[in-house]
Amino acid sequence: MQPDPDIARAEAETAQPQGRKLLVKSYGCQMNAYDAARMADVLAPEGFVETSDVEDADLVVLNTCHIREKASDKVFSELGKLRVLKEARKAEGKTLQIAVAGCVAQAEGGEILRKQRAVDLVVGPQSYHRLPEMLRQAAHGPVIDTDFPVEDKFDHLTKPSEEKIRQRGVSSFLTVQEGCDKFCSFCVVPYTRGAETSRDVGKIVAEAEHLARSGVREITLLGQNVNGYHGIGEDGGDWSLAKLIERLARINGLARLRYMTSHPNDMADDLIRAHRDMPILMPFLHLPVQSGSDRILDAMNRKHKADDYMRLVERIRAARPDIALSSDFIVGFPGETEEDFKATLALAHEVGFASTFFFKYSARAGTPGADLDDQIPEEIKSERLARLSEVVEAQRHAFNASMVGRRIEVLFEKTGRRPGQIAGKSPYLQPVQVDGPDALIGETALVEIVDCGTNSLFGGLVEGASSQFRAGGEI
Ligand code: SAH
Ligand code: SF4
Ligand code: F3S
Repeated sequence: MQPDPDIARAEAETAQPQGRKLLVKSYGCQMNAYDAARMADVLAPEGFVETSDVEDADLVVLNTCHIREKASDKVFSELGKLRVLKEARKAEGKTLQIAVAGCVAQAEGGEILRKQRAVDLVVGPQSYHRLPEMLRQAAHGPVIDTDFPVEDKFDHLTKPSEEKIRQRGVSSFLTVQEGCDKFCSFCVVPYTRGAETSRDVGKIVAEAEHLARSGVREITLLGQNVNGYHGIGEDGGDWSLAKLIERLARINGLARLRYMTSHPNDMADDLIRAHRDMPILMPFLHLPVQSGSDRILDAMNRKHKADDYMRLVERIRAARPDIALSSDFIVGFPGETEEDFKATLALAHEVGFASTFFFKYSARAGTPGADLDDQIPEEIKSERLARLSEVVEAQRHAFNASMVGRRIEVLFEKTGRRPGQIAGKSPYLQPVQVDGPDALIGETALVEIVDCGTNSLFGGLVEGASSQFRAGGEI
């Protein structure tokens, strides 16, 4: 294998004892978690070392989420606390720089500086590669960059060193697509992340190979609308997500691939076939439906009916019978009647989800849903949320309980809760704890499940089975 000059440089630069401490606090979705790592990577050559202790930090980046009101509000209470800390530092003759990144930064821009003067810089998700330059400017006064620049940030973001990747663990995110053109009437994402763009296959492959070389065994491909991926392929053609997955499956050392989040209307035939044909693609699919009522789905601008979703689920299950499905639901969208809500419960019953995220509708300024009459009172939203929760939580528990007595493949990620235990994930994303040696971390092994708790499964290693999985992670 050829030495990689980029990585060598990154390692040399991070090794410099400049010792400024960086804390990136991330809220929201997996893409924000991925971005948090990339921000730390771009700041490493500037001499920033990560810390988890705010008291220790010279720079705090709040990587924010705008999806619901509660998520956005959290940012300003957090900034209030940071202001106090900054003032205390100043009294000691020291500095604390405060940056706001992520989707609130994109949505509110300069308004953040007006609401909280302690903020030094505001940076939108498409400008993270400009962070080092922005920080230098921020020494002279507040800076803001919420452009959608013409250059591709991914081309300018620093590669993490192999050591850094190892510290982050054996399972990694990789953004392949960003932005959304779907404009669901409740959602801020098309405004905060911009238009749909897909990264070129060659660049994704290079990043995935670098991750795999550094010990990553599982990659989750990320995109706001990931199954709508269509990037320039290695042959110059337009490649689908399925074709990208086929290519990534050939990378040495990778045992598992996942992708999220998908829109039902972009679940193409070749992707469904990939679930049938490719063991590396884990049998778990997050496929948000939001509502079971055609009227509400129409008002949400989801552009499919409940029955289309059911037929799609049938086709996916026909291709991969053991696939587990998860979904997002919103209750209390404007105009939602008891009858509409019952249709949602009925859909949940009919599908039987392995896990589910459910939210009360939150009116977001600038989205069409916020202007609709017939907003639903908070008590009704809460009551419906509780009823939906009862149904889908029972489904999740039943799914977990159905694992007891089964032998499933686990990818071990870290040491467990108790000494002598190791923890990993099942193919269905369930946390699994077993008694076993630390040497198995980074490996897949067959585990017999003996018990299930509220969130985790417990089991024992199946004697002599682990080594046969080391090569490709396939049974
Ligand atoms: N396609 C996206 C969805 C992002 S938002 C993705 O990549 O994950 C995640 C979920 O938040 C949505 O599926 C929806 O269920 C929920 N959500 C989005 N906007 C919302 C709002 N205004 N109120 C309540 N929930 C919302
Ligand atoms: Fe939001 Fe809809 Fe796009 Fe998902 S598909 S990011 S819910 S607009
Ligand atoms: Fe939140 Fe932005 Fe993700 S609004 S859910 S952080 S894309």
